[in-house]
Amino acid sequence: MFKITQIDSSAQAIFTNPESKIVSLRKFYDMITADDFIPSPYQNTIENGQFQWSAPSNIALVKYWGKKEHQIPANPSVSFTLNHCKTITSLAFARKDSDGISFDLLFEGKPKEDFKPKIQKFFERTLSYLPFLKDYHFTIDTQNTFPHSSGIASSASGMAALAMNLMSLEKALNPEMTDDYFFQKASFLARLGSGSACRSIKGKVVVWGSHVEIEGSSDLFGIEFPTQIHSIFDNYQDTILLVDKGEKQVSSTVGHDLMHDHPFAERRFAQAHENLSKLKTILENGNLDHFIKIVESEALTLHAMMMTSLPYFILMKPNTLEIINKIWKFRNDTKIPVCFTLDAGANVHVLYPENVAVEVLKFIQDELATFCDNGQYICDSLGAGSKLIMNN
Ligand code: DP6
Repeated sequence: MFKITQIDSSAQAIFTNPESKIVSLRKFYDMITADDFIPSPYQNTIENGQFQWSAPSNIALVKYWGKKEHQIPANPSVSFTLNHCKTITSLAFARKDSDGISFDLLFEGKPKEDFKPKIQKFFERTLSYLPFLKDYHFTIDTQNTFPHSSGIASSASGMAALAMNLMSLEKALNPEMTDDYFFQKASFLARLGSGSACRSIKGKVVVWGSHVEIEGSSDLFGIEFPTQIHSIFDNYQDTILLVDKGEKQVSSTVGHDLMHDHPFAERRFAQAHENLSKLKTILENGNLDHFIKIVESEALTLHAMMMTSLPYFILMKPNTLEIINKIWKFRNDTKIPVCFTLDAGANVHVLYPENVAVEVLKFIQDELATFCDNGQYICDSLGAGSKLIMNN
C-alpha cells in the first residue's frame, strides 16, 4: 500500500512504502509547460476573415479559490459545464502594418469601452503565445444568452469564447495543428483571461489543476474528466435561482488574493485535493448521497473562506439562506436527491438528476421562486462545451 505524504505545487507526489522509505518521485503526467504553447513560425498568411464561437458558463463542484502568479490555481477544481448559459463571440480580423495591439470591442453590437481594459490585459498576457495578435486589427462582438445583470459571471464563458476564436485564427495560420493541441491551448489561453474560463472549453465535466489521481490533470489548462461518468449524471440539471442580480461587492480576483495569508488556506487547499479524490469516485459510481455532501460542503467552505479572510465579507443574502434551508427540508421530507451549490455570489445553483426534474421544478416554482429577484430563475443542464458557429 502506498500512502501519499505530501503533494507539492509542481504536481508531483511523494509516495512512501510501508517501511516509510520514499520509493519514488512519480511525475503522474509528462508535464506540459507554458513554453509548449509558444507556436512555431506560421505557415500561412491571411489578410482578413471572421470566426464566431459560443462558450458556456460552468459551475464548480470543487471550488477554485486562491491562486499563485500567472493564474496558477492554489488547488485543483472540477466543474459541470452548462448548456444554455453561454457567451457568443465573433472575432473579425484584418491585417495591419503597424505594430501593437489594436481592437474594437462591441457588446450586443454596440461599443463597450468598459470591457476593453480586461481584454487589453488578456492580449498582453497572451502575446508571447499568440504572436499574430500584433499583426491584425480585431473587432470583437460579444453577447450572452443569460440576462446582462443576472449575477451570473460572464468572465468564464466570455474568455473561453474569445480564446476559441483566437485558436481558430491560429489554426488557419498553422493548419497542421492537432485537435488536442487546439483545445488544450484554447483552455490555456482562457485561463490567462479568467481562471475558471479554462473549464469552459470542452467536456461535460472538467478538471483544472494537478491532482495525483487524475491522469493528465494540469495547472495550466482544464481537461475532460478522464474516466467514465455514471449515467445518473447524464443531462444533470442545474436551475440557477437569481437571488441578487446586482454587481458583487467583492470581485473574485480580490477574493482569490485574500487567500494569501489566510489562516485556513493550507488546510483548505489540502481539503480540495481530498474532496476531488472523493468526487472522482462518486462521479464514477453515481452515489448521490455522497455527491450531495461534497458539493454542499464545498459551496459552504468557499463562503466560509470569504467570511474568515481579512478583510472579511459575505456574498450570501438572507434569501440565499432561506433557499438552502428549504432545500434541506425538501430533501429530508421527500428523499429526492437535490442539492445546492454557490459561486462567488448570492445566487443558488440547484443540482439534481433528470429523473426527478418534474418534482424538483414544482418545488422550485412553489417554494423557492419567491426568494428570487422578480421570481426569476434559469433552467440549465450539462452541456459539452464551446461550439464553432461561423468560420469565414
Ligand atoms: C468562486 O475564475 O472568476 O467561481 O481567475 O480571478 O478570473 P479569476 O477568478 P474566477 O474565479 C471563480 C471562482 C469561483 C469558483 C470556481 O469557479 O471554481
